[in-house]
Amino acid sequence: SYYNAFIVEDRYKYYLEGLKITLSISLLAILLGAFIGIVVAMVKESASRVKGLRWLGSICNGYINIIRGTPVLLQLLIIYNLVFTSRNTNEVVVAAICFGINSGAYVAEIVRAGIESIDKGQYEAGRSLGFNSNQTMFYIIMPQAIKNILPALGNEFIVLIKETSVASVIAVTDLTKAAQYIGSRTWDILPPLIISAIFYLIIVLGLTKLLGYLERRMSQGDRN
Ligand code: ARG
Repeated sequence: SYYNAFIVEDRYKYYLEGLKITLSISLLAILLGAFIGIVVAMVKESASRVKGLRWLGSICNGYINIIRGTPVLLQLLIIYNLVFTSRNTNEVVVAAICFGINSGAYVAEIVRAGIESIDKGQYEAGRSLGFNSNQTMFYIIMPQAIKNILPALGNEFIVLIKETSVASVIAVTDLTKAAQYIGSRTWDILPPLIISAIFYLIIVLGLTKLLGYLERRMSQGDRN
């Protein structure tokens, strides 16, 4: 029957569509999160040096505290219900923006910790060489901080990719939702759940390999 044909032949389409949506949300959220995080960390860093900018630092701290202090599930539902007033809202874009805003708070803290891991003497050395404090940040501190930032950032990307499965609670047909949908059609939920878990695993292992390669390349300069 048509129903059986659906069960046997069309399932892969739902996995592929789900995979496409999971990857889209993840990629957009990673880019947005990295951008927000770096900007917020830079603003916070400047605010700690420049007196007149303190209020900006407070705004950044407020953002970080609210995002890290509330569940991403609720953030998603709140943003979704705030934005979803018209029929043509794109849920994938809403999800990507939500996860990007969420990730930005974690990235900001990762970048800050990376900057603070560099010995204060490096800053003083830069200043005594005649660099101003922004130049010292850019040419002396950041190139060294990057080595501490990258592994933590990679970890954040992995968390974020898996966290996008939460988007299945709004009307997003990502990998997780695809599995639930297929399960509801076949009356056999376990195989699709395991198959979509394997998809996530493959994505994360691929990213882990890529990050390991980048880290090895960056540490090559240390061995001389
Ligand atoms: N699951 C946790 C939450 O509900 C952690 C979210 C982590 N997000 C991230 N981008 N690191 O808030």
